[in-house]
Amino acid sequence: MRMSPLFHAAPTDLSDYMESEFDKALRQTAELMEQELTSFLPENEGLEKQLYKAMRYAVLAGGKRLRAFLVIQSADLFSVPRQHATRVAAALELVHCYSLIHDDLPCMDDDDYRRGVPTVHKKFDEATAVLAGDALQSLAFSILADPQTHSSAEVRISLTAKLARAIGIKGMVGGQTMDMYASADDIDIITITRLQQLKTGALITFACEAGAVLGHASPPQVHALKAFAHDLGLAFQITDDILDKEGTAEVMGKAVQKDGKAGKATFVSLMGLEDAKIHAFMLAEQAADHLDIFGPKADLLRDAAAFTIKRKK
Ligand code: IPE
Ligand code: IPE
Ligand code: MG
Ligand code: MG
Ligand code: MG
Repeated sequence: MRMSPLFHAAPTDLSDYMESEFDKALRQTAELMEQELTSFLPENEGLEKQLYKAMRYAVLAGGKRLRAFLVIQSADLFSVPRQHATRVAAALELVHCYSLIHDDLPCMDDDDYRRGVPTVHKKFDEATAVLAGDALQSLAFSILADPQTHSSAEVRISLTAKLARAIGIKGMVGGQTMDMYASADDIDIITITRLQQLKTGALITFACEAGAVLGHASPPQVHALKAFAHDLGLAFQITDDILDKEGTAEVMGKAVQKDGKAGKATFVSLMGLEDAKIHAFMLAEQAADHLDIFGPKADLLRDAAAFTIKRKK
């Protein structure tokens, strides 16, 4: 199996640039998600039309669709029919968009821009933002529970239970709560690791595990994917924190330099920028190593690990 070329130096000038296999696969995932998500988000002319508009606005405004990519690539390891993986990927992106809408609210991070456009509460209003988030979450679960997602009720229940856990008190919402109350001056490595594992890692773990559930993976295969996702999730959030410090609002599509001002506890606040970069790099490499069991079939997932730390947005 190959070492991801993305772990090596980037081309020095743009004329060297050729779309890599990974870039192409990620672009195709984004295109697929645009279609699939649009099909789940109809328009409505009734009193509730603002809610429908806000949901479409939040979901169809771009985004890397990395979580969808992880679902599809992990499902591909087990030759899962694409239509099943696509529905699970869409459900996960809906939940992710819900988490972003609520994360941006004035009572949380109070952000005005997301994906290069005004946040949902700025474009609409706070009540609509709260309700659009709620509705996206319930839409995601109704997709997972639908027999079109998988003919086996056991598989559907397993996906539903795993997503519920990943976004609940022992997952994203628990982590978001820790994020609100943790202090940059008083946090240790164990607590910040748990915080990030919950707030960001749990959804990324669901993404990778979903492929294994759809594909009836063996216990060692499930273990390998979960270990990959564990390290990848941490590397992903550490990189988000690094980009908050080093990135630009134009490229990121959201405000930068906010975590420091808000006194957020992050790996960057705890260990400094340079050590945080080294830590993220080691985690991404370690993530890729966990995939040895799959051989070359997992090369695009290895690339995703490298992309996670090299991305600029
Ligand atoms: C942003 O996630 C929120 C975090 C968990 C850091 P992404 O960086 O994946 O956001 P999009 O979906 O690409 O906009
Ligand atoms: C958000 O983390 C994680 C979520 C669960 C939504 P951040 O607050 O750092 O994400 P950004 O920087 O606003 O995208
Ligand atoms: Mg936040
Ligand atoms: Mg935020
Ligand atoms: Mg951030």
